[in-house]
Amino acid sequence: MSRPLADRKIVLGVTGSIAAFKAPSIVTRLVAMGADVVVVMTENATRFVTPLTFETLTGTEVIVDMWSEGKEGVSSPEEALARDDHLQHVHLAEAADLALVAPATANVIGKMAGGIADDFLSTELMAMTCPVIVAPAMNVNMMESDAVGENVEKLKTRGVIVIEPEVGRLASGAVGRGRLADPDQIVEEVKRLLLPSQDLAGRRVVVTAGPTEEPLDPIRHIGNRSSGKMGYAVAERAARRGADVVLVSGRTSLEAPAGVRLVPVVTTEEMKDAVMAELPELDLLVMAAAPADYRPAEVADKKIKKSWDRLTIELVRTDDILMGVKEHRREGQGVVGFAVETEDLIANAKDKLAKKELDLIVANDPTVDGAAFESDTNVATIIGRSGFEESVGKVPKRELADLVLTRTIAELEWGGDGTE
Ligand code: CTP
Repeated sequence: MSRPLADRKIVLGVTGSIAAFKAPSIVTRLVAMGADVVVVMTENATRFVTPLTFETLTGTEVIVDMWSEGKEGVSSPEEALARDDHLQHVHLAEAADLALVAPATANVIGKMAGGIADDFLSTELMAMTCPVIVAPAMNVNMMESDAVGENVEKLKTRGVIVIEPEVGRLASGAVGRGRLADPDQIVEEVKRLLLPSQDLAGRRVVVTAGPTEEPLDPIRHIGNRSSGKMGYAVAERAARRGADVVLVSGRTSLEAPAGVRLVPVVTTEEMKDAVMAELPELDLLVMAAAPADYRPAEVADKKIKKSWDRLTIELVRTDDILMGVKEHRREGQGVVGFAVETEDLIANAKDKLAKKELDLIVANDPTVDGAAFESDTNVATIIGRSGFEESVGKVPKRELADLVLTRTIAELEWGGDGTE
């Protein structure tokens, strides 16, 4: 049986509506497709379905309200989240690929819209950076109320996907809009969001990521603050979109994404050698790494002792990897660069695009809010060889990675099926 959602982590929020009885059938479908489902219930939801039902279906502990589980001395969800023994719960929001609230009551919709986090589910939802789907279910008059209508609109403008409830007979006996959408329709929406098109199938993509380090002596090196997160996100998304991905990475604290071949390197020279070795076979090179531009002219073979008040280190230029690629690349191979600038962002990025003969460049200023090296978000401008230019506001790096790949495919005029 195919498991198209294997490795995908879905947080399912279940709230206190009579429609909660349909949530287990949603879980059954998602689990059957291989998804890793964690169910978070509100206290009220447990009056309609027991946590044990979901635990049996998912094989994972259901999270209700943490301080109601005898966790002494915890007076708020934030406090509970901050405690070490609950770190796995903090990680839930970070690890989730998708959050789904089904059924969603007027109450949880109101909390999400109003920024209220007074239980585990609402706290978790506020911390989510992944896509969020909400499937409302409630009495028709509540559904038609201005309050719910305005809250639903608010969520939609923030990018939350709302699966409209059906018109039908409701629990109260009344007929109207408010019945939870069909589980099949909800699962279809999950699949649409989690299963990207395979528009890089058959392509070999090489991504570089992270900093390079240039040794000074056996103890020290010259490096930079690149975290590697942007490059790892590009590698992960390219693999999800069907590419055969090689990730040439400097030292980072990140784990290689599933299905990606990792080539670890340390210095700029090693990164250059790894890229040049891959060059003949690749279709697309994405240089997201921050290779050191200079290295110490001499590397001491013993630790440099502090014998002077002042120490001058002579640095020499390393090779520019993209300039080397420019010399040797074949027709039809795509090359994407990144430009990190703290002034004249666009002008400098356009210069690099021209000088290094890139197809696309992603320019960003790490001093801007939401674009720091260690951040999970980025703010960037994508510039194409054809003159295309697009500013992207603060988005998760994973989302920017997808957009960069989409714009690259368009710039290179690649068809979605591996054809030119
Ligand atoms: N790059 C490279 N080889 C280097 C340094 C950078 O291939 N030795 C690549 C980076 O991976 C990035 C692009 O060149 O895709 C631009 O890097 P950046 O550091 O912004 O620019 P530089 O060309 O190094 O110019 P400067 O440092 O003067 O801004």
